[in-house]
Amino acid sequence: MPFQIDAVRAGYPALAEGFAHFDAAAGSLVAASVAQAAHEVMTGAVANRSTAFAPGRRAIEIVEQARAAVADLLGVPAAGAVFGSSATSLTYLVSRTLAQTWHPGDEIVVSRLDHDANVRPWLQAAASAGVNVRWAEFDPATGALPSEQYEALIGERTRLVAVTAASNANGAIPDVATISALAHRAGALCYVDGVHATPHLPVEVTALGADFYVTSAYKWSGPHLATCAADPALWETLRPQKLMPSSDLVPERFEHGTPSFAALAALTAAVDHLATLDDTAQGSRRERVLQSMAAVHAYESDLFATLIAGLGTVPGLRMVAAPEHRCPTVAFRLDGDDPAKTAAALGDRGICVFAGDYYAYEFFSALGLRDSGGAVRASIYHYTTAADVARLVDALTEIQAAAV
Ligand SMILES: Cc1ncc(COP(=O)(O)O)c(C=O)c1O
Repeated sequence: MPFQIDAVRAGYPALAEGFAHFDAAAGSLVAASVAQAAHEVMTGAVANRSTAFAPGRRAIEIVEQARAAVADLLGVPAAGAVFGSSATSLTYLVSRTLAQTWHPGDEIVVSRLDHDANVRPWLQAAASAGVNVRWAEFDPATGALPSEQYEALIGERTRLVAVTAASNANGAIPDVATISALAHRAGALCYVDGVHATPHLPVEVTALGADFYVTSAYKWSGPHLATCAADPALWETLRPQKLMPSSDLVPERFEHGTPSFAALAALTAAVDHLATLDDTAQGSRRERVLQSMAAVHAYESDLFATLIAGLGTVPGLRMVAAPEHRCPTVAFRLDGDDPAKTAAALGDRGICVFAGDYYAYEFFSALGLRDSGGAVRASIYHYTTAADVARLVDALTEIQAAAV
């Protein structure tokens, strides 16, 4: 048994509070080792970065270790990991920086499956540079993002294709490798939002063909800190707006101000934590991460199948644009019930779910559901249990019965 759920859950002290967490797509609980790493930095002698004295050298080391951790999580060069406070702020930074290289009449491609963090920064950058925007549409019937449409969307003026590795609304996993290959054939760059995919799948950025891959550690048991990974040679070609005295080097020149060393140490601890999730995993940290995330994927997929079957038994429950190939995340509505009310009724029972559009603004607008409250979202994480799933399904059945 590569995945020992009881041992995994023991790593999350907050689970002792007894909530059933289906809210990890909005942010997971933090592993104990992650909190401990932050605590050690905040209570130890760690200064701002300096080579002159030990507490300053510790800070330098913490940053280097965090870049190495990102490298092992994503299969990227450590020197290509840029840190920022959130995926949103990093995408704004990259979009503004890339827009300086665009010309009026150029084109970019965004998708309606994406979280707004991988849409709006690109639209705003395009508007500032006189660049045209083309839209990839998801199929409302299947919930999937057909990659074939990119053949027609990408042309010789395309400079950038922004696409998600997995939707935070319905979990859909687009064929990013095919989409990025089409982008590259036209000489365009591919910016991949890995925020929802990273907690659920082994990630190999080069296999995805992502030129940039952004992910947020608070979605995978870590702190509120994000990273955007790209080949250092690609970062070298870009000149972000920055302060005069700050470093001109890559990746530092993309990092504004003084980072949180506590958060960086916590991010490293989060990657170390992910690497332990399969307790039979062996080899380098990269190998253990890949093995552990494969075990996570298998565990979550089984549980998700149980959840989907259970939701199918709830009278009047309608799943929203539910694709076959997806991360363990489902959006649904109960007939006649406002999603916010359903979420509150579940909350009263100690069950944590989100309702609304979760910033998948274009997705819910396209479905015509934004104005009526979006949908309830339940996402499975590696600490979710079969008992949690039964609790959710029973509660929904009860809420529905009380409504009629
Ligand atoms: C798929 C996806 N992309 C981007 C984001 C934005 O991440 P951040 O909060 O780090 O800006 C989220 C947050 O929920 C997300 O789910």
